[in-house]
Order: sequence, then C-alpha cells, then structure tokens
Amino acid sequence: MTSVATTPIAGQKPGTSGLRKKTAVFMGRHYLENFIQSLFDVVGAKGKTFVLGGDGRYFNDRAAQVILRMAAANGAARVIVGQGAILSTPAASHLIRLHKTDGGVIMSASHNPGGPDEDFGVKFNMANGGPAPEAVTEAMYRRSLELTEYHLLEAQDVDLSRIGRSELGGMIVDVVDPVADYAALMESLFDFPAIRALFAGGFRMRMDSMCAVTGPYAVEILENRLGAAKGTVINATPLPDFGGMHPDPNPTWAAGLMDEMFSENAPDFGAASDGDGDRNMVVGRGIYVSPSDSLAVLAANAPLAPGYKAGLKGIARSMPTSAAADRVAQALGLPHYETPTGWKFFGNLLDAGRATICGEESFGTGSDHVREKDGLWAVLLWLNILAKRRQSVAQILAEHFQRFGRNYYSRHDFEAIPSEAAEAMFTALRAKLAKLKGQNFDGLTVEAADDFAYEDPVDGSVSTKQGVRVLFEGGARAVFRLSGTGTEGATLRLYLERFEPGPKGLSEEPQAALAGVISAAHRIADITGFTGRSAPDVVT
Ligand code: G6P
Ligand code: ZN
Repeated sequence: MTSVATTPIAGQKPGTSGLRKKTAVFMGRHYLENFIQSLFDVVGAKGKTFVLGGDGRYFNDRAAQVILRMAAANGAARVIVGQGAILSTPAASHLIRLHKTDGGVIMSASHNPGGPDEDFGVKFNMANGGPAPEAVTEAMYRRSLELTEYHLLEAQDVDLSRIGRSELGGMIVDVVDPVADYAALMESLFDFPAIRALFAGGFRMRMDSMCAVTGPYAVEILENRLGAAKGTVINATPLPDFGGMHPDPNPTWAAGLMDEMFSENAPDFGAASDGDGDRNMVVGRGIYVSPSDSLAVLAANAPLAPGYKAGLKGIARSMPTSAAADRVAQALGLPHYETPTGWKFFGNLLDAGRATICGEESFGTGSDHVREKDGLWAVLLWLNILAKRRQSVAQILAEHFQRFGRNYYSRHDFEAIPSEAAEAMFTALRAKLAKLKGQNFDGLTVEAADDFAYEDPVDGSVSTKQGVRVLFEGGARAVFRLSGTGTEGATLRLYLERFEPGPKGLSEEPQAALAGVISAAHRIADITGFTGRSAPDVVT
C-alpha cells in the first residue's frame, strides 16, 4: 500500500455525465488517480462494494486496473467488474441495484469518439443506480482542489479476462459476465416468445452497435436468444477507437443505417446505440422515428410488454422533448412531467414511483427498471410492440398520429460556435423575452416566452436557466439551448415543434411542416447575425 504525494489538477469538474476530457489528459501524470481519490474521499470506500466497468474505449482496460488498485488501497471490501472491464451504462446501473452495492464507477465518454486523440471519461453512479447528483460531483471537484496524496496498492494487474473471484490486497474482485444479468432483466420485462415468433416468421432487423459497447449485448439478446438472423447486429465488436466511428446514434452519425433503411431491400426495423449503450435511434423501413415520437409510441403501447402490463404510473420528458408524450398521458389519464435536460432529473420521479417511462429528444428512453436511459431496452420494447401488433413501424406511427395528433418536431444543431458569440446571442435573446408576447414573426404570433425553470416535485430543489422557450399561438414552439456536453466551443440547439391535430395534414415532411417556426426562430434570435451560421450542422 503506498500513498503517493500529488498536487491538485485544475478542471476536474464533472459535467452532465461525469468527468470527460481528451484521453491524453486522462492519461497524464496523476490525472486519473487524483480524480478517483477525490471520488473515494467524497463517497467513502472503506468496507464498501462497488461496480466497475466501461464502454471499452481506449484506456478503459488500463484505467480499470488503476481504479481497482486504488479501491483496494482505500479499503473497499469488494468490486464487481464486467469481464474485460466492459459494462454498458444501463448494465452497470442494473448490477448496482441487483447486488445492492454502494455505487459504481463507469468509464465512458458516452457518444463522444474514443481513441488516443479522442475522449475518455469517468462517472460515478449512486446506490440507486443513477448518476451522482450535482451536490456529490461538486464535492468531488472541491476535493480535487485540495488533494495532497492518493492511495494505491502496488500489485500485478488483476486478470479481468476470466470470470471468477480473486483477491487484491484483501479486497474481493468478482469478474462477472457483463451481459448475463442484463439479458435476464430484459427477458423478465419483454415477451421474448412473441418476439422470437416474429423473427421466426421472417421479420428482418438491422442493429448497428457502432463498434461500441452494445455489440455483445445485442448479439446475445437479438441473435442468440430471440433468433434474429446471424449478422443482424453489425459493428458488433467493441473497439478501442470505435472503428473510427462517432458512436452517436442519430441520422447524421448513423448514416449507414439510415441509407440501408431507406434502400430498396430495407429490413423491417433498424436501430443503433451509442458508445456506452444508453442512447438509441429507431428507424422503420423508409421511415425515421424521432426520439420524441418514439417516447410517445412506447408509452402508449408499453402495456403490451409483460413488465408494464399493469400500466404506467406517469410519463416524464425533458423540456425540449416534444409534447407528443404529454398527449398520450392526457389521453390515458396519467400524470406527466416536464424536466430540464439531463437524465438525472428523472431519478427522483422514478425513485418516488411517480413516473414509469421517461424520455428525451437526445435519443434517450428508459424506465424504472434501471436509473439510466437504456438503448437496448427501447429497441426491445419496440420489438415487443411490433410482435404484438404485427404492423409496420410506418403503420404504427400513422395510427398513433391519427389517435393523438402529431407534434412535428426537429432539432437543429449549430456546432463549434465561438463561445462568446453564443453567449452574446443568449444575452440578447433573454433581454427581449419580456417584449416578445404579441409580436408576429412570419405569420406566427408569440403567446409566451420564458427561460425554463424547474422545481423538483419530490425534493423541492429548483433549477433555473434551463433553456429559452418561445411559444406561439396555435401550439408551435421554438426552444433555444446551449449544449452541456460539447468539448469544443459552444453548440446551439434549436428545438422546433408544431402541433397538427389531424385527421388531415399528418404526413408532411417535418422540415417542410416546420418551415414557418424555423424562420420565426431565426428572426427572433438573429442566429445568423450572432453566429454567422444560417444552416445547421446536424438535423435530427
Ligand atoms: C447526456 C445526458 C442526457 C442529456 C444530454 C443532453 O446525454 O445523459 O440526459 O439529454 O446529455 O446533451 P446536451 O448536449 O444537449 O446538453
Ligand atoms: Zn451514452
């Protein structure tokens, strides 16, 4: 056991989902060690049990060995590690809950690219399986600024390639199959026999795991257990650099999947997941399903799956997500919640039993089965619905819109804007919010405008400045927000929405349906004037 003298390193401040930095920064002298010591100092390690795993990106294996040696030196009793130091984020959340551990350390920078020149990250999840709240990550940051030493056991590497128990300086290390418990959980929630029958009947699917963590999970569940054709899952081997892919499942970064799903010989159903397996994108044959619509369809049809047959307790969505899910909740007489962006805001609602299904426009959907969003969970719930309804994705969406109306929706991203330009735009926009009401922009009249604030109904905590909302008469809406996850400059997210009750006008192309809102939003915020950009880099 050694204590190594160190000095504080600036900037070890966790963001929305843990500490994310360039891999080279994380590999720098004392960098990982300092952060892990701050983490253990705050949450306490003595006598505790933790889960450890990551998405397999470059440095994942080395970092796991360091974290194990530091856990042992800090007095942890036991660490449960995914074989090969691999665990998807939802699988880690599940293991924390299943074994009632004191939390878990997840090594991932989510959908950011990986490799020596790309990103690495570490986040801590609490005993409920959910991301550490801000009070905890803030305490870690403060601790990092006063650190003088860290504790490390001098030992050989633990063999993480073999399942089984070993000991490290008196600490138990249990290497477990990263997939088995998660797959069993999925099997308990969904109608596997019905989905098996669907595949046996010739239903074809394409799952793009983007060379990231969901590969082994998807192969085991979709191909081995559900009988999807071998090769259904592509890019199925997690690679340290994700094969050079940007493992973010959206129409831009999963362009290969989009091309296939819109081709002549397209399969019936397509899906993709991100670096650490918590995000998902769903595509039907020739039809893209926006995450907001996906949430609404999943909520409306969830009782078709055994795990949700008793119905839902409530539905929650983040503010920039479309109100499509609210319409489902209203029709079913369920409570619905509008939270700030970030999965952590769903934690209290799930723990308190107020919501069962949650979702975000940022390709995240999940339920109370874990405390993270869960990419494969969403894919399996879709499959369960398809297996029960025996309709195409296009038919299911069309019927959904007929029943609930359609919230046309799109997000426009303007990436790598100079931070000062973005700040100036928001300052100007906030300054004119109070004066917008009643003004007309390209035929749309502003009904209300505000800066979204949220009071948590469970613990009463208040979060302010969560995005600027401009609501137009007739139910259209534009939301302006700066991304909290980018690593270069600022990313402006413009969220656009317009409600069409039907029965006519439900099958327009979203960009065309939203043209009026788009031009009004540009005029209101003078996006081009402030940023020099007139067209978005990414459209979802
Ligand atoms: C992460 C969080 C999500 C959140 C998203 C927002 O993925 O886990 O809960 O919706 O970031 O990202 P943004 O870049 O829009 O801040
Ligand atoms: Zn992720």
